[in-house]
Amino acid sequence: MMSRLLVKKAPLWGLFCVLFFLSPFLSAGTPSAAAIATAHPLATEAGHEILKRGGNAFDAAVAVSAVLAVVEPYSSGLGGGGFWLLHRASDGFETMVDGREKAPMAAHRDLYLDKKGEVIPGLSINGPLAAGIPGEPAALAHISERYGRLPLNDVLAPAIIIAETGFPVDSHYLRMATWRLETLQAWKDASAIFLHQGGLPAEGAAIRQPELAETLKQLAVKGADGFYRGDLAKRLVDGVREAGGIWTLEDLADYRVIERAPVKGSFMGLKITSASPPSSGGIALITMLNILQGFNLPSLEQPQRTHVIVEAMRRAYRDRADYLGDPDFVDIPVEALTHPWYAAGLARDIQMDSASRSVGNVSHETGRDTTHFSILDREGNRVAATLSINYPFGSGFVVPGTGVLLNDEMDDFSASPGVPNVYGLVGAEANAIAGGKRMLSSMSPTFVEDEQQLAVLGTPGGSRIITMVLLGILEMAEGNGPKQWVSRPRFHHQYLPDQIQFEPDAFSESQRKQLKNMGHRLKPLKHPYGNMQAVYWNKKTGQVDAASDPRGLGLAKIE
Ligand code: DON
Repeated sequence: MMSRLLVKKAPLWGLFCVLFFLSPFLSAGTPSAAAIATAHPLATEAGHEILKRGGNAFDAAVAVSAVLAVVEPYSSGLGGGGFWLLHRASDGFETMVDGREKAPMAAHRDLYLDKKGEVIPGLSINGPLAAGIPGEPAALAHISERYGRLPLNDVLAPAIIIAETGFPVDSHYLRMATWRLETLQAWKDASAIFLHQGGLPAEGAAIRQPELAETLKQLAVKGADGFYRGDLAKRLVDGVREAGGIWTLEDLADYRVIERAPVKGSFMGLKITSASPPSSGGIALITMLNILQGFNLPSLEQPQRTHVIVEAMRRAYRDRADYLGDPDFVDIPVEALTHPWYAAGLARDIQMDSASRSVGNVSHETGRDTTHFSILDREGNRVAATLSINYPFGSGFVVPGTGVLLNDEMDDFSASPGVPNVYGLVGAEANAIAGGKRMLSSMSPTFVEDEQQLAVLGTPGGSRIITMVLLGILEMAEGNGPKQWVSRPRFHHQYLPDQIQFEPDAFSESQRKQLKNMGHRLKPLKHPYGNMQAVYWNKKTGQVDAASDPRGLGLAKIE
């Protein structure tokens, strides 16, 4: 009897054993809570509000993007664009919604050059000639319609209310407005909305944007057509052209969001999913990680470890300048650039005791705007999104009667081969200006995961975005949590200028000396940089964590 029972139970017992051994590789199911980290508390709260009303992470992403467009006018908005990386839990589907701005059709490679072929300073940064055709309104409508659960009207409601009632000026707003004061003063509508009697508003003063609220309502009711066609489109084109810009109604009507396959790679068993071209982020990130995989980083002492990471950065940024641009205009060897063998070749001339040299020389400045948010809902859906209008307050130009502050993303093109943009980035043919082309970006919304855990992360920071995400991933690979990813001291190298830029507390005196002895040029920065927003899910325990960069005023909230 006993033996018969055992025989009967054997298949069940076998299944149990298999499941037991597989358990570390199976997801524990769903997160114990939802988590949202954004650069502004009002955006984080709006995202949670939408989740509570039955929305999913994609609805929350639309709500958060729209609120950020209102409360961080210096960072992103309807007049700008961005990349939304999505993961759907039900079937594991992943996509990057490319809502990057496009050059108007009348743009051409010499748009910002004078008769002698020299770049005219400021022309690709200030005023409507600096503005690409916005992608954010189309992206919000697209994400809502294709992936969301709630009507766009409901999801945009928090942003509309805040645009109407106003939000309080904080210290970050004042820093950004101080930086761009002259440009904001130059344009009547921008000055009326974002300044007070032509000067800085007081901290705590309310910024109300009734015209932007009306524009958001058009989008809420009519979808993308509410922005890209009809009355609003006409107003946008008239306003831009009257102020010296080159947009046409066709430029707006022809704008399309593109869904692109994210770039993928791996590092120490972690699966990396990040932004594909026209962002350089994913490719550069994976090139750097592939190079670093050949070195046993934890076994290296400082500053040799820093040295090796810097050399990986240098090589990835050289390729960025040479190969990357809009994939609809140039052939990009994505597979080759993200292949471990290619990285092994790049790593071959890294000397352990001396710095390589970059060829050429440029100086640069950088900005502290753009925005990133990370979302995980209770079903395991996730969104990493980095959005921008480029420089603080974009081009500084608000189209009269619309409340829409335009980007100056045209500066992300290479205005002339080898001439650096505001982030000191150089480029060549692949990123030359052409009508209808998307400008190369560094924005790097990223997922990192293995069987046990998941990270959703990203940050603003111009050319330094990619190296910040790299340093965050290296922290994660060492077993540290999201608070360390967002707060760790940062350093950066971008091939040209040939220097290690670093935050005030990144290296000790003796580390600086050793790096110099290896031949590195050091560029200590006066201020910290970046504003990373990260979410973490331990798939085994279901536990969720989130962190907002202490350098910013954002909010990470688990609920
Ligand atoms: O797309 C890009 O790479 C830039 N427009 C991002 C600008 C940025 O992050 C500015 N912030 N510091």
